[in-house]
Amino acid sequence: MTDLVEPRHQLVPSPIGRESERAAAALALARAGRRVALVCSGDAGIYGMASLVLESEAAVEVEIEVVPGVTAALAAAALLGAPLGHDHALVSLSDLLTPWQTIEARLEAAGAADLVVALYNPRSSGRTWQLPRALGILGRYRPASTPVGVVTDAGRDGQRAYLTTIEDLDVSRVGMTTTVVVGSSQTRVVGTWMVTPRGYAHRPHGSVRDHHAVGDPQAGPVDLGDPGDQLTHDGPAGLGDPDDRLTHDGPADRVLSRPPTAHDEPLRTDEPPLRIDARCTACGACVVTCPEHALAPARHRPTLDPARCSECWACVEVCPTGAITPRGHEPIGRQP
Ligand SMILES: C[S@@+](CC[C@H](N)C(=O)[O-])C[C@H]1O[C@@H](n2cnc3c(N)ncnc32)[C@H](O)[C@@H]1O
Ligand code: SF4
Ligand code: SF4
Repeated sequence: MTDLVEPRHQLVPSPIGRESERAAAALALARAGRRVALVCSGDAGIYGMASLVLESEAAVEVEIEVVPGVTAALAAAALLGAPLGHDHALVSLSDLLTPWQTIEARLEAAGAADLVVALYNPRSSGRTWQLPRALGILGRYRPASTPVGVVTDAGRDGQRAYLTTIEDLDVSRVGMTTTVVVGSSQTRVVGTWMVTPRGYAHRPHGSVRDHHAVGDPQAGPVDLGDPGDQLTHDGPAGLGDPDDRLTHDGPADRVLSRPPTAHDEPLRTDEPPLRIDARCTACGACVVTCPEHALAPARHRPTLDPARCSECWACVEVCPTGAITPRGHEPIGRQP
């Protein structure tokens, strides 16, 4: 940004680690009547200077504009492909100002929710154990083979980006200016790109009845429920209002402690791998999401070809009504 600096500008540099002092100095200059641009990397509101300024009482005395920027997770994601294509979380591993127990609890929650996680401040010369610990936590919720993108100095000289996995990540290649993007159980490597599928975005606009059948009709699909018990929704078939779920007989109950992943050991049983219940609105999201074409549209709810199903649980993730229950995870008690 030196090309923006003119002779009339006064530059006030300060070292990393003195952010509070830098914010206070900027406010003091502004209160003295100067126009001040407080500069930081990425977006000022994300682990940046904006909160340090705005949390100060002195901030109310000056006019402030927060200018948005491109945060490291987005710059890194663009280099990697589209790893943030579905729900994700940003977690800083810096425990200088945040207790490690808090960071660990957030990692556990992000892991349990199967979120893609962009790790900021992953490692420095003095903080080396946090990244392996974080990967260990996330690795309990998703396969060790989950794709991980490692991006250093995005948009700067010496920019580096590479793909690895949770189990193969070489932490020595991670530094102060690196962002580590850990995929969810749905994240894939496609060619050289790291991609998290959109899921809902592939939902057809109408009901599954409007779509051509997929899968092999000779393979003997299994009817997964009684068409007579389809729930009726107001308005056109489709997603409906997510709150609709609450108007059935209580909230949709999922009893999974975490989303099943492709890493889970398939249960050995003659039961079909999953069941689709009366909460199905025939939106078709699962049909178009299934990578194996194991689900085919049918009049009231999709049918499953168990021989094709790889138990990846992508359909469970994408179903907006919670109508798909993997084998072995049926709720105890009420069965829709
Ligand atoms: C204190 S945070 C500042 C974040 C910044 N405000 C932003 O929105 O990107 C510093 C962390 O951001 C990440 N980071 C900042 N610049 C980066 C870059 N050019 N490439 C990759 N990661 C970067 C690294 O994880 C680094 O440890
Ligand atoms: S099971 Fe879920 S995703 Fe599949 S058609 Fe029914 S409501 Fe849609
Ligand atoms: S679990 Fe995977 S393979 Fe089986 S029906 Fe669902 S999306 Fe298709």
